[in-house]
Amino acid sequence: MPLLAVETSCDETSAAVIHEGRVLSNVVASQISLHAEYGGVVPELAAREHLRNLMPVTRTALREASVEAGQLDAVAATRGPGLPNALLIGFKAAQATAFVLGRPFLGLHHHEAHLYSPWLRGQPPVADFSKFQPNVSLIVSGGHTLLVHVRAELNHHLLGSTVDDAAGECFDKTGKMIGLPYPAGPEIDRLAEGGNPKAYDFPRPMIDDPNDDFSFSGLKTSVRYFLRDHPELLNDTQRLRDLCASVQAAIVDVLVTKTIRAAKRLRVGCVTASGGVTCNRALRQRLTAACARERLLLLLAEKPLCTDNAAMIGILAERKLRHQTEPTPRDADILPNWALP
Ligand code: KG4
Ligand code: ZN
Repeated sequence: MPLLAVETSCDETSAAVIHEGRVLSNVVASQISLHAEYGGVVPELAAREHLRNLMPVTRTALREASVEAGQLDAVAATRGPGLPNALLIGFKAAQATAFVLGRPFLGLHHHEAHLYSPWLRGQPPVADFSKFQPNVSLIVSGGHTLLVHVRAELNHHLLGSTVDDAAGECFDKTGKMIGLPYPAGPEIDRLAEGGNPKAYDFPRPMIDDPNDDFSFSGLKTSVRYFLRDHPELLNDTQRLRDLCASVQAAIVDVLVTKTIRAAKRLRVGCVTASGGVTCNRALRQRLTAACARERLLLLLAEKPLCTDNAAMIGILAERKLRHQTEPTPRDADILPNWALP
């Protein structure tokens, strides 16, 4: 029997229906254009938009899956981390739906769900866990940069995270400095294509540190100083492309170097990556080349599943139910600052 999952932790309202590892539907209403006007996500606007979108998105997900609410076997939602008012809307609606249907409810960790999104392959996406193997998983988004050791299904250990800005934040803030609209990551990716990644030598923060943590705020600051000293660059398209390629190369270098180093140290045979920044073409190419060189299996989340979506919440919920995880209590609350358990 099928399962309904809901995700509203930030600026995507999403609902998905999952059945035995198959994504029967995965509807995502993005709020990017709404927040672009303000240069970043405005929490109160995000919450109102989730309220407006959640019912139509859920109805569409059920219709596309040809499933009636009464046929649902379980309901799941993101419990945290995320924007409190945004989380509340999806979590409480899903909890109430489970209560009314008399079905189990699971409130899940957003990043734990990201760990399994690279296992969803094909169209429509299917998760085949018979091929699962221990891995090091990189989660890179606008708010988070995490490196996780996934020892077995539902058994993971956080290796490191960002001590300041996330990788996506560094893309977005660099973009803001050169006048690109929010979120700037995709546009920097495009501009970098015609640029020379070796044109400017930006720092690779913490690349040689023996830990698995990241830091991108120093890189952002050095871009700011560089632009202060070279304001003419903003009117030169080729030099702007070179700047984008050089900043992107610095971010990607750190991400790839630290991910591969962790994988080798922990002697896993597999690397996975997810989160919005995993859409970045240079990151995908560099990870592909590095994993081929080190004979590591690489699973990059497919592009539509890199960004936030309910399918990954549903896939994790199904695995948890299969492993007899206790349902989340009926009166449980959201956990906006939930650290990866
Ligand atoms: O996972 P995501 O959708 O969600 C949140 O953080 O909420 O990630 C969004 C981030 C933004 O910072 C955006 O600029 C970045 O992912 N991003 C990219 C690319 N596509 C999205 N960064 C670099 N290159 C891209 N192609
Ligand atoms: Zn996410």
